[in-house]
Amino acid sequence: MHLSEESIKLKEKIQKQSITEVNTTSTNVEFIILPYYKSLEEIPQKETLYKEINEFISKTNNNSTIAILTSSLFAADFCTQLQHDIHLKLWIAVKLDKPIEHKSYLSEQHCALLILTRYKGGLNHTKTRIGYTYCPSCDKTTKDYGGKKHLYHEFGTLISDVWRDISVDFAAYPKEIINRLTDLFGLPEYKYVNVYDQRENYKASNKKHSFIQFPQIENLYSDKSVLLSGDCIEQLKSIPDNSIDFCFADPPYNLKKKYESWDDGIDIQEYFDWCDNWLSELARVLKPGRTLAVLNIPQWCVRHFKHLNKILDYQDWIVWEGLSMPVRMIMPSHYSILCFSKGKPKSLPGFVRETNSLLETKGIEALKEDYCIREICISKRKRLKAKDKEISTNIWWDVHRLKHTSRRVDHPCQLPPMFMYRLISLFTNEGEFVLDPFNGAGTTTLTAQQLNRKYVGIELSDYYHNTTLQRHEELNLGIDPFRKNNDDYPKAKNSRVERLKKQKYQVSKKVLQLEIRTISNTIGHIPTKDEVKQHSKFPIEYFENYFIDWGEVTAAARTTGMTEDRKNGNGTYKIKEEQLRLFEEEQAKYKKRKLEV
Ligand SMILES: C[S@@+](CC[C@H](N)C(=O)[O-])C[C@H]1O[C@@H](n2cnc3c(N)ncnc32)[C@H](O)[C@@H]1O
Repeated sequence: MHLSEESIKLKEKIQKQSITEVNTTSTNVEFIILPYYKSLEEIPQKETLYKEINEFISKTNNNSTIAILTSSLFAADFCTQLQHDIHLKLWIAVKLDKPIEHKSYLSEQHCALLILTRYKGGLNHTKTRIGYTYCPSCDKTTKDYGGKKHLYHEFGTLISDVWRDISVDFAAYPKEIINRLTDLFGLPEYKYVNVYDQRENYKASNKKHSFIQFPQIENLYSDKSVLLSGDCIEQLKSIPDNSIDFCFADPPYNLKKKYESWDDGIDIQEYFDWCDNWLSELARVLKPGRTLAVLNIPQWCVRHFKHLNKILDYQDWIVWEGLSMPVRMIMPSHYSILCFSKGKPKSLPGFVRETNSLLETKGIEALKEDYCIREICISKRKRLKAKDKEISTNIWWDVHRLKHTSRRVDHPCQLPPMFMYRLISLFTNEGEFVLDPFNGAGTTTLTAQQLNRKYVGIELSDYYHNTTLQRHEELNLGIDPFRKNNDDYPKAKNSRVERLKKQKYQVSKKVLQLEIRTISNTIGHIPTKDEVKQHSKFPIEYFENYFIDWGEVTAAARTTGMTEDRKNGNGTYKIKEEQLRLFEEEQAKYKKRKLEV
């Protein structure tokens, strides 16, 4: 359920002709629906199809938006062949109506909605919000907004690049997606959402994928775990071929600069050449049948895909909804875990071993959608033996970034241990070797040790290497390295957004932000600094010194504030009739879920 601010709903127009016959001149949303291809071999005349889509996009109006709905595998491969003047603006992961079940692999539960443009710069769209979801057990919003409720809207949160509130059935017409596109792009410059349903024209063939053949040789690396300090490409050279059971990489993202597309400049080209080098090394040390997983933003994973697809076999595209900062209109909130296997993949150990340890079970089982993680609610569910867990699929929404400083050490982008419990439990058995070439503060090697796996961790920075050594020492002494630690030691924040130094506030930031809302209501617009000087009872220095910028000062004045209780929440928010109907459908689904608890 969504709500788009000041949207002039676009008209939906079903286009009967094939994309090769179309000539569009006005500014539209051009929406292409393709089949959900499960392997690249299933794509009929792949090269021709890619050429036809590229040509179609080149013929559209410069300001149009092109949306393509298909499988993640097709999306990744097609993006590697995108013409250079076409920009991948967003990769939206959309939930599949029914997951594609696999017995010994993760079930597939998402598809890709690519948003492409020929124009550079930010994507033009309306400000769209998704209604809050509520925990079936405590009736409060799924997410705990803590002391930030005054900064959120009463209806819901800004739309992100993971859509789970609606879903796609590839055997049916994607009505919900089209409805959303007609509002999301409901700007005066757009006319129609032109729908090109190409599923019949490009039906999936039944050609099977043939795996790359690797000699079934396994070498012994060592019988001991190691933490290596230095450059990963150098260090990897000392590791024998075919000796590691699972490779995981969380590389530095090179996000300091903004790039329109991954071939924009020499720096980015150097970055990817470097990535290709360590990826090749990881592929070499990996045992046949086992998995190499890389975590990155979707646009970067597309480029890793291009290289890995030449040397290994595609296995999975896991979506991790990691909820980052709302820095753009559509919040970028997901990362991809691109998985490739060395030849035909073995069944996932986590799905075929007879018994799991407690920690393995914790890793493999995911929280069911919408359940909250408020401690009080978790205890109540435990008491009532609520069935709030299910086996993880290839979309992860229940693994949250480490927000509280008390649970973090001094590293800017450490992963939550739960993330690694899941990966390691799924992809390895006890005693096997896990390798991480960018070990950072040691999340991978520490969780590997906790799960009784052996590990190789490589880290360039002496400081982080030493932090990791120290944390392993703690673990050896029985101290939890992921415990809450309220020391006053300054820590790098898990955010790309600049932070202010810790300081003592004379008045809380919330009080100041609410003061701005009051001033705004009085004068009828968001106040300038001079207007705050004039109207506020607090000195202007507070506003200047406590916040990172004026946007943060005025954040509460730009929204309504929210409540976490369902009965006072978006169920009573006044919305348009058509949206209300969809909202009621959602509520009916919710009630059904509640009965199942
Ligand atoms: C995204 S962080 C990984 C964080 C890690 N997953 C954790 O949870 O702590 C990337 C790490 O790679 C390290 N790094 C950068 N270049 C490297 C290189 N050439 N070889 C090894 N490590 C490198 C950085 O110092 C940084 O700690």
